[in-house]
Amino acid sequence: MRNMSPWWIRIPLLFFIIFGLIEYVIDSGNQLAIIVYPITQLFLLLVLMILIAIELIVQSIENVMFQTLPEKAKERYLATQSNTWQWTWARKWYQKLTGNKPIEEEGEIILDHNYDGIRELDNDLPPWWVYMFYATIVFGVIYLARYHVFNGADQNMEYEMEVVEAQLAIVEYKKNAKDLVDINTVEFLEDASDLKAGEAIFLSNCVACHMADGGGGIGPNLTDPNWILGGGIKNIFQTISEGGRDGKGMISWKQTLKPIEMAQVASYVLTMEGKIPANPKEAQGELWIDVNNPTIKNILKERNEQETDTVSVALN
Ligand code: HEC
Repeated sequence: MRNMSPWWIRIPLLFFIIFGLIEYVIDSGNQLAIIVYPITQLFLLLVLMILIAIELIVQSIENVMFQTLPEKAKERYLATQSNTWQWTWARKWYQKLTGNKPIEEEGEIILDHNYDGIRELDNDLPPWWVYMFYATIVFGVIYLARYHVFNGADQNMEYEMEVVEAQLAIVEYKKNAKDLVDINTVEFLEDASDLKAGEAIFLSNCVACHMADGGGGIGPNLTDPNWILGGGIKNIFQTISEGGRDGKGMISWKQTLKPIEMAQVASYVLTMEGKIPANPKEAQGELWIDVNNPTIKNILKERNEQETDTVSVALN
């Protein structure tokens, strides 16, 4: 082994063998033993130092012994040293890939012109270069066939496919994660089942103050377009979730109702706007016209159909 490899291979090799043995022998679960037991780091450091020390000692002994050898023996020793392992395979490969002629054979490829003493060698192209060139040709043919003959997906198409996939994933996610709605993601739920659920929640929690028809009592009228705390699905969701102004009586419902339930009842509240309650409380708060409100949407649609194009609506 000594004569086959230089020290900079020997030391790391031994070191990693010992390191591997430690990891193999010490049971440290999923983590590396050197992390679980820091003392092993110290041990490895010691091992490394000992390896280096051994190497240095052996080398100096060799050196001393070399000096004591007679001339003849010195020569012999040096001869064996130069026979050491010299990466023959790597050299061979390098030779093969560069395709260089050894200097002794250059006479075979020298061209017979001579420019002021400068002469030219007719070297072959280096094989590494030629193989790479062939590889690019093969690549080019495959590329051409795939993208220009058989219309493979190009970057734009790949991008669009990924977008579609992502959108599907979002839809899927939303389906499974309805419960995760919050003020930022809440949207008007137009499914009849959601509105029905919203109505049920409203009837069992909110009628005491807002009346079953939304006409209002202790709480404000929910059927008019005026809102104290802001209209639109987001504001209404926010009011239900966080409650109204302090001391007014509208509590925060987020402890009682799930996010999806608040979204359902908020959607139901939106559908009440525009209905005529039995005992409407007078309008309070600001007029809020929300183009996304289902009732307003219908009105705008009807107006558009009647083609009265002189309507101007203050849009929020
Ligand atoms: C104890 C009485 C009470 C109950 C029960 C109650 N509210 Fe209210 N609600 C109020 C009061 C009072 C206000 C006005 C708050 C303010 O002015 O800050 C209000 C305001 C609101 C508003 C905002 C109205 C606006 O003009 O901005 C909405 C929306 C609302 N309530 C929905 C609900 C829903 C949905 C429920 C049932 C889950 C509910 N409320 C239950 C008393 C109540």
